[in-house]
Amino acid sequence: KKVVLAYSGGLDTSAIVPWLIENYGCEVVAFAADVGQGEEELEGLEAKAIASGASECHIVDLKEEFVSDFIYPTITTGAVYEGEYLLGTSMARPVIAKAQVEVARKVGADALSHGCTGKGNDQVRFEGAFAALAPELRVIAPWREWDMVSREDLLNYLASRNIKSSASATKIYSRDANAWHISHEGGELEDPWCEPSKQVWTMTVDPLDAPNTPETLSLTFNKGKLTHVNGDALSPYQALVRLNTLAAAHGVGRIDIVENRLVGMKSRGCYETPGGTVLVKAYKALETLVLDKSALKYREQIGLEFAHVMYDGRWFTALNDALLAGAASFAELVTGEIVVKMYKGNATVIQRKSPNSLYSEDFATFGADDVYDQSHAEGFIRLFSLSSRIKALKAQGGAN
Ligand code: ARG
Ligand code: SIN
Repeated sequence: KKVVLAYSGGLDTSAIVPWLIENYGCEVVAFAADVGQGEEELEGLEAKAIASGASECHIVDLKEEFVSDFIYPTITTGAVYEGEYLLGTSMARPVIAKAQVEVARKVGADALSHGCTGKGNDQVRFEGAFAALAPELRVIAPWREWDMVSREDLLNYLASRNIKSSASATKIYSRDANAWHISHEGGELEDPWCEPSKQVWTMTVDPLDAPNTPETLSLTFNKGKLTHVNGDALSPYQALVRLNTLAAAHGVGRIDIVENRLVGMKSRGCYETPGGTVLVKAYKALETLVLDKSALKYREQIGLEFAHVMYDGRWFTALNDALLAGAASFAELVTGEIVVKMYKGNATVIQRKSPNSLYSEDFATFGADDVYDQSHAEGFIRLFSLSSRIKALKAQGGAN
């Protein structure tokens, strides 16, 4: 029997390795995804996994795939969960789960396992992907099975099995990092009346400490894809890394919200999405030039629906495919350049241009013009409001 475990090297998954071996009598293959969470988390991971009892450790580089196949399509939908959350953790789950299934197939495993809590969204996202991609594989979710409840329990368990761990008994926050964002939950954040302390934030500079001079930044898009930052051609992942560096220095992209989890409870979380915040803003600004009123309205509806598809772990579904196809069709028009000014936590679009722009100074001008005959507006308004007129006339007894 062989299980492939989504392994992070943290305390939870370090305990899951021996627990699986003990409780399922199986061989455990550790799998870790590089989604741009940073060197520290990946360093020495293989040795750690083996020390915990894993037979092998597979580390798969998903950085470019994550950004081009999951993040960029999501941007084209305009999705923002509950008006604020840019879905950083949600977007990473399907790409990780997909690679995990591939490893399982390669090593001939019969089960998959993960370290997600039974109270959260991530278990649903992982297992939703597993169900769609590998329905024949069994899923083991230790947090829903064992009776350990605290970090102390986990440390005691590891000590009793003679497995060394550098994890500390107290870890305040539950964090999840990747190329797009870092999330923070737990600790004092569990009290929604409690302002996040300075130590919550790890990716961005405090806006109070950000430079006193603003910095502008240009983003060039071709058919919905970011191709250049400040004129430099970059891969999707490299472009995001560049944006993160520039925006984090100005304290851009912090949010502090209460959100509805799929499993029913509310949770309070802080998120840092520096580059993503700039990118989403710039993308939407370019859309305002190229999409007409009805197209933009429909794109907004796609985003509203897609935010839930993404958040709820429904990537591998027909609805997802349809929504992405619709968004991709609008994205064909999203070509051009946007300039954003960053200053003390804010990112503001100050310049925009596109070869597909529908904006016309000739039409929009408040000065004298000869392309728009204002007298035409009268007939338009009479017909546009005809039903209101009929209703009012009837109420007055003036029509039948
Ligand atoms: N609440 C966010 C979401 O559901 C972030 C979850 C963070 N996950 C984690 N394992 N720390 O997408
Ligand atoms: C989740 O919603 O699955 C994440 C909960 C956490 O560990 O912070």
